[in-house]
Amino acid sequence: MPTQDITDIKIGVLGGGQLGRMMIQSAINYNLDISILDPDENAPCAHLVKHFSVGKLTDEQAVYNWGKEFDLITIEIENVSVSALKKLQDEGIRVFPQPEIIELIQDKRKQKTFYKANRIPTSDFVLTEGKEDVANHKEMLPAVNKLGTEGYDGRGVQMIRTADDLTKAFTKPGLLERLVDFEKELSVVVARNESGEMQCFPVVELSYHPEHNLVEFLFAPAQISNDIEEKAYHLAKDVIKKLDMIGLLAVEMFLTKDGDLLVNEVAPRTHNSGHHTIEANLTSQFEQHLRAILNLPLGSTELITPAAMVNLLGEDNFTGNAMYEGMSDCMAMKGVYVHLYGKKVTKPFRKMGHVTITDDSISDLKLKARKVKETLKVKA
Ligand SMILES: Nc1ncnc2c1ncn2[C@@H]1O[C@H](COP(=O)(O)OP(=O)(O)OP(=O)(O)O)[C@@H](O)[C@H]1O
Ligand SMILES: [Mg+2]
Repeated sequence: MPTQDITDIKIGVLGGGQLGRMMIQSAINYNLDISILDPDENAPCAHLVKHFSVGKLTDEQAVYNWGKEFDLITIEIENVSVSALKKLQDEGIRVFPQPEIIELIQDKRKQKTFYKANRIPTSDFVLTEGKEDVANHKEMLPAVNKLGTEGYDGRGVQMIRTADDLTKAFTKPGLLERLVDFEKELSVVVARNESGEMQCFPVVELSYHPEHNLVEFLFAPAQISNDIEEKAYHLAKDVIKKLDMIGLLAVEMFLTKDGDLLVNEVAPRTHNSGHHTIEANLTSQFEQHLRAILNLPLGSTELITPAAMVNLLGEDNFTGNAMYEGMSDCMAMKGVYVHLYGKKVTKPFRKMGHVTITDDSISDLKLKARKVKETLKVKA
């Protein structure tokens, strides 16, 4: 346990988006001293902390100069200068998740290679350098072609179902994975502190928007057997242990039709699949992340109520100053919690907020989630 009072620990967070914003909400309860670096002076965290600095997260010098000030550094986005973080770590600053892990996760090629080397179940894949390589692996079809780096929120991921689709293959280094005909997509958020304590949040199930690869609905708890649930916790803990990671890790999994679990990808930070924990669990993922990196006791992750989560995305065809249509209708519904991220400008499919919906009955939960999705619209 820390010898220093936690309020004296100067914490720097790389990234000032919505994840940072919700982390600050948790940090306030413990009087934590948080500073933020983000390239956008109007980022969701701007004006919420005493020290908000503007700088490019991938710029080694900018991150290093900013980071020297802190005792502990963490991230809310993994696209950051790892070389700067390694230098800061060498100088005695605690960096969680550790820079080596951020580096591994920045590249889907390295990530998949790590799973294979560590016998973590994942779909078959081949590394590809460009279009030609993809075309040379017709035996993998139907498949998913992913960019190694630079992909996020579904960008950099595309289906290559038949030989006709090969023309659209990525030209940059990436990988070709066998398409998993999954039963469900699941996620487990797991935390680990320096003492080695580990806690998983209850398994959630996700459904993705068919075109945009963004989470459309999340349901907690996942409707799966106890056996699969236990297997999912075991797998999530296995991954965080093999990574030897300190902090919070979201493990995205496929449940196959045969009842097997395959790791799709992981994120070494708070995650979209844990937003509902703010209202639905005894401890939220944001608080748990802070507990883990500060080596404090991890909180109970017990679910208080079944919950759903809907991402609030900018409507297609609207760009400009955001307006929220249907707010009061949603707020009039019992157990509906709207979270707006403080982004002034909406763009098609930009994540502008999310809504958590709670209900004791799973069927009512589904109805309410659908209703929220149909009612609340972000326009300009
Ligand atoms: N091998 C696969 N088989 C079947 N579907 C897949 C496969 N890989 C990815 N997908 C689908 O594409 C989605 C996005 O893939 P992935 O999570 O790798 O990309 P991403 O851009 O990092 O996404 P995000 O940032 O939203 O998590 C998955 O959630 C899943 O629905
Ligand atoms: Mg994903």
